[in-house]
Amino acid sequence: MLGSGGREHALAWKLAQSPRCKKLFAAPGNPGIAQYAQCLELDAGDHAAVIAFCEEEDVSFVVVGPEAPLVDGLADSLRGAGIAVFGPSKAAAQLEGSKSFTKEICLRAGIPTAGYRRAESEAEAMAALDAFDIPVVIKADGLAAGKGVTVAMTRAEAEEAVRDIFAGRFDADGAVAVIEEFMEGEEASYFALTDGLTIVPFGTAQDHKRVGDGDTGPNTGGMGAYSPAPVMTPMLRSETIAKIFGPTVKAMADAGTPYSGVLYAGLMLTAEGPKLIEYNCRFGDPECQVLMMRLESDLVDYLLACAENRLASLPPPRFSDDTALTVVMAANSYPGTPEKGGAIGGIEEAEETGAKVFHAGTALDNHGSLVANGGRVLNVTAMAASAREAQAKAYAAVNRIDFPTGFCRRDIGWREVARQG
Ligand code: AMP
Ligand code: GLY
Repeated sequence: MLGSGGREHALAWKLAQSPRCKKLFAAPGNPGIAQYAQCLELDAGDHAAVIAFCEEEDVSFVVVGPEAPLVDGLADSLRGAGIAVFGPSKAAAQLEGSKSFTKEICLRAGIPTAGYRRAESEAEAMAALDAFDIPVVIKADGLAAGKGVTVAMTRAEAEEAVRDIFAGRFDADGAVAVIEEFMEGEEASYFALTDGLTIVPFGTAQDHKRVGDGDTGPNTGGMGAYSPAPVMTPMLRSETIAKIFGPTVKAMADAGTPYSGVLYAGLMLTAEGPKLIEYNCRFGDPECQVLMMRLESDLVDYLLACAENRLASLPPPRFSDDTALTVVMAANSYPGTPEKGGAIGGIEEAEETGAKVFHAGTALDNHGSLVANGGRVLNVTAMAASAREAQAKAYAAVNRIDFPTGFCRRDIGWREVARQG
């Protein structure tokens, strides 16, 4: 397995539970993952080195956690070497790697999404702004680690975002802006496994992207999440499969670039129905942590069937009906430059409550003690019959963790807790 965050800890935890998993390697992994896997340094950008390692160690299946190696074509290289891999080809990973690519697919396949214009120069983008009402959304095409999106509340803010993109803030050569109509509604995430033909729904979730309580402050990679997301009613789930996942998978196959892996749809639940905000070509982080808590089926069965084009032969995956909720504990100053090296204690005590603590950004220091080594550091995850109980259980575990240079939001799940009364 490739990756080192909380998402990968959750994946490794489930993969290791499978009787089909004889031995698990993780590159680079983290101290949490090291409980079930042999961690090693391996540069995911060096495809030949990854293949050589797999051949030496007889690795028959590779699970890629993050998007960057997929967008970089690692799955193609592994498949070319006859190694099964969970994750899309470089061509298919463009669904995450290029916002304009996804917009073109949506346009071609009639998939509901925000209206947009693509602009290759600052002048073109400024002119295109005239066609949109305010608020308007400005995005840098290409991967920008979640930092390439501005929801502009004024024209001046929109113009500044455009200037930023063409000043080379995200991608020095060939900067491209996507300007989008602002969609109003509640956001939800829907995950589906696909082997290019069959679509297997794999759970819903909602996350909290803002750093502060009450959804305030700057955007982050996600400060917490829960699953399921009851706003994704059975009707909305069917509608999303019929109008969004289905036509996408078909359009990719028709284009000769079938999509294999997990499709993570970021949805806006608008008055006109669910609309696609964006696709990711990997599991969400921290959404994966709550999905894995709920997953009762063997993860290896599903991911391998995905890689081997035989998803249709499996029964639907089983998920607990309970709610799983995860609280991200981050290092002080995140999402700015997080404080590194802060001591972490109390994980065992936290897990005595029945919670599961996934390591997201941890390391061992010279004395073998656990320290913070990233922005998002721990994902304290609990499951219970309701969102309220899962929230209480997760925070009871958080309270047992001793991480003086860290912080967390205190209201993860508030929307659902309020709805359930
Ligand atoms: P993205 O990276 O495309 O997921 O965008 C990050 C966030 O920006 C989303 O989670 C939404 O909150 C917001 N966003 C993106 N596109 C739109 C849109 N067209 N309308 C409203 N909000 C949007
Ligand atoms: N939590 C948002 C993401 O993984 O993209």
